[in-house]
Amino acid sequence: MTPTLPTPPPNDPLPVAMRWLAEATARGRRNPNAMALATVDAHGRPSARMVLLKELAAVGYGVFYTNYGSRKARELDATRRAAAVLHWDDLGCQLRFEGAIVRSPAAESDAYFASRAWRSQLNAWSSEQSQPIDDPAELERRASTKARELGVTGAGESPPPGRRLARPSFWGGYRLWFDAIELWAEGADRFHERLSYHRELGDAHAHEFRPGPWSWQRLQP
Ligand SMILES: Cc1cc2nc3c(=O)[nH]c(=O)nc-3n(C[C@H](O)[C@H](O)[C@H](O)COP(=O)(O)O)c2cc1C
Repeated sequence: MTPTLPTPPPNDPLPVAMRWLAEATARGRRNPNAMALATVDAHGRPSARMVLLKELAAVGYGVFYTNYGSRKARELDATRRAAAVLHWDDLGCQLRFEGAIVRSPAAESDAYFASRAWRSQLNAWSSEQSQPIDDPAELERRASTKARELGVTGAGESPPPGRRLARPSFWGGYRLWFDAIELWAEGADRFHERLSYHRELGDAHAHEFRPGPWSWQRLQP
């Protein structure tokens, strides 16, 4: 497929970003929403890892979920900034995000946690993400212990009847509010198209910003 950037470029990049994600999802490939998330520590050292982009909101933020004690979370909470990139090789598209970080509203994280598979919920409870562990089997032992502590009898494939796990307070969502987006479309012979968008986010009000309008410019490939 030859990707297309609309002509003239749209004033708002979100509809194109959402269309690309929808097209990648429609192709049935595994984890079309996999996104490399870059953070930086207090010494300016960057690190990157994949997360799943669980929501792309039209007002211009993306949501992912993680352990609030993980390395990425510590860096996100300290710097309040992140960058992310998605690439769909078969579509010939790259989508780059930069922006400000806020935690998701608790109710939203609760709702997402409730939608997860039982074993994933138990794993969120029992894994101290990013901490060392000697033996992979230890994870299963921790899960069984945690299941007993939480008053759920087993760690099987389905939840015990009538028993639901609440979200642990140390696990939840982040919103990455975009102040920069780049739409990149592959061209023949590396004559790629790049549209770079920027906007001011203003001050955060709880989980929200009231961003200004987008402006855009073309960049050389
Ligand atoms: C395709 C893919 C998707 C992933 N999605 C998530 C995710 O949504 N949340 C998460 O915490 N970790 C996810 N991971 C694991 C992270 O890449 C990473 O190993 C973990 O979050 C710990 O990162 P940290 O130590 O830098 O915090 C995913 C890994 C892969 C390969």
